[in-house]
Amino acid sequence: MIAIGCDHGGLEIKNAIVAYMEKAGVEFKDFGTYTEDSVDYPEYAYKVATAVAKGECEKGIICCGTGIGVAIVANKVKGVRAATVTNEFCAEMTRRHNDSNVVTMGGRVIDCETAVRLADIFLNTPFDGDRHTRRVDMITQIENGEFDI
Ligand code: RB5
Repeated sequence: MIAIGCDHGGLEIKNAIVAYMEKAGVEFKDFGTYTEDSVDYPEYAYKVATAVAKGECEKGIICCGTGIGVAIVANKVKGVRAATVTNEFCAEMTRRHNDSNVVTMGGRVIDCETAVRLADIFLNTPFDGDRHTRRVDMITQIENGEFDI
């Protein structure tokens, strides 16, 4: 199950990603927003991030104007590793190296076609593991106040 959400700035690309997931048979839960009315992005980012952190959803996708505000919010939720992506290389590498469980994108930065392509890469690229596991574990230790250097 994939969690997805957006604010008004990310609505158009979120709708494109939703249409792609419906067509591809990807199960998802859409946390809104559903209209172009101005809303506060922290609310929607928090809903998606919490669904991922609780294990209700395996991964999350959050869209706003830049993809940045929602990433800042999502990364405040324990257990979430959110990455803002604008190109295919970053969408792939944040899965392979960072084991990111949330991806964020900006509707004022990329077009719908690009957003769908990046979502597809994010959802279908596995984590490389190996030395990257040690590094991701260090992120978790920092999050837990257990990082000892
Ligand atoms: C909304 O105008 C805009 O601030 C929001 O979508 C996002 O870009 C924030 O980071």
